[in-house]
Amino acid sequence: MVTRRRMIGAALATGGGVLLMRTTLRPAAPAAAAAEGHDHGSPDPAAADPGPDAGPALAPKFTTAMPVPPVLAPVSTDGGADTYAITMLRASARILPGHRTDVLTYNGSFPGPVIRARSGRPVRVRQTNLLDDPVSVHLHGARVPADSDGGPMNLIAAGRTRTYTYPNDQAHASLWFHDHAHHLESEHVYRGLAGTYLITDATEAALPLPAGQYDLPIALRDARFDQDANLVYRMDDPFNRTTILANGRPWPKVDVAARKYRLRLLNSSNLRFFSLRLADGGPLTQIGSDGGLLERPHVTDTVDLSPGERADVVVDFSRYPVGTSVALTNSMPPGPAEHVGQVLRFDVTRPAHDPSSVPARLRTLPPVAAAVRERTVVLEYQESPGAAPLGLIDGKVYDPARVDAQVAFGTSEIWTVVNANKDVPHNFHLHLVQFRVLARNGAAPSPAESGLKDTVRLLPGEGVRLQAVFDAYRGRYPYHCHLLDHSAMGMMAQMEIT
Ligand code: C2O
Ligand code: CU
Ligand code: CU
Repeated sequence: MVTRRRMIGAALATGGGVLLMRTTLRPAAPAAAAAEGHDHGSPDPAAADPGPDAGPALAPKFTTAMPVPPVLAPVSTDGGADTYAITMLRASARILPGHRTDVLTYNGSFPGPVIRARSGRPVRVRQTNLLDDPVSVHLHGARVPADSDGGPMNLIAAGRTRTYTYPNDQAHASLWFHDHAHHLESEHVYRGLAGTYLITDATEAALPLPAGQYDLPIALRDARFDQDANLVYRMDDPFNRTTILANGRPWPKVDVAARKYRLRLLNSSNLRFFSLRLADGGPLTQIGSDGGLLERPHVTDTVDLSPGERADVVVDFSRYPVGTSVALTNSMPPGPAEHVGQVLRFDVTRPAHDPSSVPARLRTLPPVAAAVRERTVVLEYQESPGAAPLGLIDGKVYDPARVDAQVAFGTSEIWTVVNANKDVPHNFHLHLVQFRVLARNGAAPSPAESGLKDTVRLLPGEGVRLQAVFDAYRGRYPYHCHLLDHSAMGMMAQMEIT
């Protein structure tokens, strides 16, 4: 275990660092976005350089309290469904102490609100776009009809409203929703268009896990700020995003009672990978991944999350005397360890009664039928002199008019997904399905990847075999690298299930 982790860390630290450094030093402009006349992410060459990330200087660590994002109340519960109304609008958020930052929001919250759903009970979300750009709202990890998937071309124009319908015809899971408008998703998500969507069911509700105020959604990401606390977005800018935000606050402190908590960790970064540990190396009991609970808890000291991935983790703070603190740390580069190596700090402020426990058996995963077809998918970040870098899947940039994979409805397939780069990390996300990881680099996956997944990390040179069952809906759905600056460069393709 330790050896394997070290190797992964080393792979990213050495290889990843070099190329990311190289690609960061060019003037960034996604070719297609430039061609379409969007200026997003393409800094005016005459504009002053915003300088290094000012976040670390403006935000002393562990002084701001971490907020818990608001749970949205439905506007209606009629007709056997919960209906929500969300307005996408610009807002000014208090992120860095004493400053205000312009952000893009769902209902004015940064990060976005939490929607709580139940399996089998549909949710409708009426989304109104008061921003200047087209948007698309994607529910990541959900089994939804194609017209409610919020794909890259399924846009809501500025000023328009549309209603998405989510059947919630799936087991409990910690999902999230975020913008997906093609070429714009990376800047939109970076500026705040991301929220949490938690589905529960009878299986999960019957377990004695920490609940209520002891069940905390925590969205982690990085960001870059200028001296005036404005968010700075430059395409493909991982080295300069050195401010770590948890629920929208820099390196916050989190008051906890001396008892067990369930932490629903989401990596909502565009590019940053996290490798999370408690500073004292204390146990993290991972109970869930992207698609809900694992079959059995997995006790570890490290939780790895690439962009878009989730992990449900139970931490027992009764190990720590009241009045003490323990930080959550990150060992993944890039960036100065004094900043990106710190995430947040738990302050154990009070004793508490704790009736919760983590059962040895959490759930039974659905069986996987025999696969009828195998495919290989190759992800590659390609640079050529004098041109903007390209994001490629099987050698091609995304073309919404092209179908890249024809899948027979009702069948199961095995996909071998390979990161062809020697020095750039990627990951892989399939819409619509929760899949199983069969192997990573030819070996059995870690228990952390033994449950249902919709996103898997692919460090330089890695390959993952996964199996999915396509029995939910017919239609066209994307698959892509979830490093959103990469998908915005074209590292996205499309399957058609018929
Ligand atoms: Cu989280 Cu296609 O996205
Ligand atoms: Cu998705
Ligand atoms: Cu990528």
